[in-house]
Amino acid sequence: MGVGSSEFNWVSDLVRRESAIVLQPGKEYLVEARLLPLARAAGLAGVDAYVRAAQRPTSLAERRAIVEALTTNETSWFRDATVFASFRRDMLPRLLADRMVHRPLRIWSAAASTGQEAYSLAMLLIEELGPARRFEIIGTDIARGVLERARQGRYTQMEVNRGLPARYLVQYFQRAGTGWQVSPELQRNIQFRELNLAAPFPPGLPAFDVVFLRNVLIYFDTPTKQTILRRVRQVMAPGGWLVLGTAETTRGIDDGFELVRMGDLSAYRPVCGPVTRPPSGQASEPPSVPSARSAPTPASGPSLQLSGRI
Ligand SMILES: C[S@@+](CC[C@H](N)C(=O)[O-])C[C@H]1O[C@@H](n2cnc3c(N)ncnc32)[C@H](O)[C@@H]1O
Repeated sequence: MGVGSSEFNWVSDLVRRESAIVLQPGKEYLVEARLLPLARAAGLAGVDAYVRAAQRPTSLAERRAIVEALTTNETSWFRDATVFASFRRDMLPRLLADRMVHRPLRIWSAAASTGQEAYSLAMLLIEELGPARRFEIIGTDIARGVLERARQGRYTQMEVNRGLPARYLVQYFQRAGTGWQVSPELQRNIQFRELNLAAPFPPGLPAFDVVFLRNVLIYFDTPTKQTILRRVRQVMAPGGWLVLGTAETTRGIDDGFELVRMGDLSAYRPVCGPVTRPPSGQASEPPSVPSARSAPTPASGPSLQLSGRI
């Protein structure tokens, strides 16, 4: 059947405005495949009819569903295992040596999807830090559906088969029907919240020692990447590290980061020193920073309450 060109253009404008995800011409097949289940669930003949229905002023839920459906939530346990090995072997000792022990180590999984990255980090940190040292992980994503799954911590056998070592399965999971449930011990240190990276970050974000921003910048254009990286720098604790996906870099995008090789891990740290922050230690958005709304693209800011929530 296919998706009509005006419907495709409307969807790609919506998705770009709300999430900054770029859907180039040629991605019609993706729009068709992702929106067909929504159209069927709504009892409509096809994707074009669903898109036209979503254009009504009152169809907020449909517009939100379209944006969520066009996020790509691919993830797995300890994705890119060498990254986690180097995090454990090279980055963590460095972080711990640099830090006083009076506050928990704070890690942000900034495109958390269904939570495997955040839970992988929690398993590793429990093992490495022991009971004496506390840590907090915040997992955020734009898509409510994946966040709900992350909060539940319930995974299918097929999901568990993707990268979870057997010893962690035994230690941190319990059988739940045909799937697996993560233990309260893992969940205790993690919060999952909604946050749109393409909108100004919400006030009250704490300063993070490590930001995992992996496999999400690839969906954005360069001005959006620049805006996000600049904001990320402002929520990094002094001495903090940024970890990107293996196909991602700050090079040629944001000169405010420098690359440091740690074993197999490419880590980035701010070069201009920490941003002055209020005495509470909370991150702030200085007025000099252009917001996603004023960035060249997306043309206008998000409007579906997908913005910056936490
Ligand atoms: C491919 S997954 C990456 C998951 C995990 N970081 C990993 O590397 O395995 C990308 C995630 O980014 C999220 N995402 C896309 N655009 C976003 C935005 N503007 N703000 C926050 N999250 C976004 C998607 O919903 C999706 O769950």
